[in-house]
Amino acid sequence: MKKKNKKLIDKKGLRMDGRKPDELRSVKLEVGILPNADGSAYIEMGKNKILAAVYGPKEMHPKHLARSDRMVLRCRYHMAPFSVQERKSPAPSRREVEISKVIRDSLVPAIFVENYPRTGIDLFIEVLQADGGTRCAGITAAALAIAEAGIPMRDLVVACAAGKVDETIVLDLMDTEDKVGSADVPVALMPNLNAITLLQMDGILNPDEFEEALNLALKGCKKIYEMQREALKTKYVNLKEVEEQ
Ligand code: CDP
Repeated sequence: MKKKNKKLIDKKGLRMDGRKPDELRSVKLEVGILPNADGSAYIEMGKNKILAAVYGPKEMHPKHLARSDRMVLRCRYHMAPFSVQERKSPAPSRREVEISKVIRDSLVPAIFVENYPRTGIDLFIEVLQADGGTRCAGITAAALAIAEAGIPMRDLVVACAAGKVDETIVLDLMDTEDKVGSADVPVALMPNLNAITLLQMDGILNPDEFEEALNLALKGCKKIYEMQREALKTKYVNLKEVEEQ
């Protein structure tokens, strides 16, 4: 549930961190940062700092979880106790269980799971610092980690939220906007297939506002997708340079 509105947009139409309503926070993406993982990525989105690590495909344990016709993606989204101002218990909360599920469901459509029957991949999303929109940032990093693990994908998956604060539709809400604003719509997209794999809404929007927020979130996704491609390219250009030396 959203709290009551307070002033989040100033007289010039700018947000608390100086952004325009349709502006993303600054995004930094890095691929291949954990040598022990089969694939990994790191994202900074504003003050969010999140790691994604992928292990597999490998034999499923316990075996009864294996599926004879596909690979199983197991996902654990977790916030470190020090990731928020008020210490968070390290035990998985209901929120984390739900976010783990929606992240998994947003990524599975992009993976050729049918090519790897009886196997599993483990995806860990570890939030080191949280400032609103961590499920979206986690999905963006996770898709890069899966790609780096060499797991065949139909498309990348990229995610971004839009919402409503002070009667204005805004892109990429930070923590205060998420908590004090009146709505938040996280969206995940397979950008080349133009297919939405996650669509949630917390708060209240009328149909026109919802459409505006959805379109804005999709625009944000497309911008972040270009950064995802750059991050993947950078990783492989660097590898090529090392090999050539
Ligand atoms: O992070 P996301 O927007 O995907 O999920 P949320 O449940 O809407 O959480 C919004 C924000 O609340 C998080 O990004 C954190 O910054 C904050 N939060 C917190 O301060 N303490 C928690 N135990 C959980 C979330």
